[in-house]
Amino acid sequence: MHAAEFGRVEKAYPGRDGRPAPPAIADFTLAIREQEFFCLLGPSGCGKTTALTLLAGFEAPTAGEILHRGTPVQGPGADRGVIFQGDDSLMPWLTARDNILLGPRIRRMPRDLQQERAERLLALVGLKDHGHKYPRELSGGMKQRIQIARVLANEPDMLLMDEPFAALDAQTRAQMQEELVRIWSGARTTVLFITHDVQEALVLADRVGLMRAGPASAIRDVLAVDLPRPRDRTDPSLVSLYRHIQGILAEEVAGREALP
Ligand SMILES: Nc1ncnc2c1ncn2[C@@H]1O[C@H](COP(=O)(O)OP(=O)(O)O)[C@@H](O)[C@H]1O
Ligand SMILES: [Mg+2]
Repeated sequence: MHAAEFGRVEKAYPGRDGRPAPPAIADFTLAIREQEFFCLLGPSGCGKTTALTLLAGFEAPTAGEILHRGTPVQGPGADRGVIFQGDDSLMPWLTARDNILLGPRIRRMPRDLQQERAERLLALVGLKDHGHKYPRELSGGMKQRIQIARVLANEPDMLLMDEPFAALDAQTRAQMQEELVRIWSGARTTVLFITHDVQEALVLADRVGLMRAGPASAIRDVLAVDLPRPRDRTDPSLVSLYRHIQGILAEEVAGREALP
C-alpha cells in the first residue's frame, strides 16, 4: 500500500466572472511510498500547493482520485499534518510545551502520557531545554521546530510541508533542512515536502517529483536521489543531478513563456 496516491487528478478553480478557467493541475498521477521523503519540485505557480491542499483534504479535486493509505481523502484529518510556509500559528499565550500539547489535550490524552510526549518531541526537535519559553522568546528556526513538534504530537502518518523554510535566512534554512531529515528519521513518518528550490529538494529527498509548468500541470519526471545523508551540497553526484533538474525546469519555464 502507498502512503498516498493521486490518480489522474484534476483541479480547476472557478474562473472569474463564472468563466471556466484552465485547470491548475490535470492528469496528475503520483504514488508516494510509506515512510519516504518525497519532494515535489516545480516552477512557481505550477500547482504544487494545489496538489498538497487536495491531499490535505482542504479542497476537493474536480476529477480523479486521491487515496491516503488506500482510502479516498474526504477532508482534513490529524493523520495528515500540514505545515505551511512561514506558518506562524503558535498560540502566543502558550509555552512551547503547551503549544505542542494542544492536539493531545483536545483528544484528552492522559496527563502523564502528555508530559512524556512533550518531552520526547522537545528532545526530537532539539529544544529539550526550551519547553517553558513563549513563542516571542524563540527564534524563527526554533518556532518552526515547535511547529513541527506540534504537528508530530498528533502522530500523523504523513507530514505535508509547503515551502516551510522559505521565509528563513539561508543559514537557518540549511540548519532546518538537516534538522528535518534527523526528525524524519526519528519519527518514521512519510513526508511530502514542497519546494521550488532544487538544492533543497536534493538535500532532503529520497525521490523528487518534477512538475511541468502550469496550467494543467502534472508530474513530468520522478528522480531517485540515492545519496547518503547528511548530504554534501558539493558532492559531484548531487551537483550533476542539480544541473540536470535545472535544465528541465528552464525548459519548462521557457515552454510556458512561448505559449501565446
Ligand atoms: N484558491 C484559488 N483560486 C483560484 N485560483 C487558484 C487558487 N489557488 C491557486 N490558484 C491558481 O492555481 C495555479 C497553481 O497555484 P499553486 O498551486 O499555488 O502553485 P504553486 O504552489 O506551485 O506556486 C495558479 O495559477 C494559481 O493562480
Ligand atoms: Mg505554493
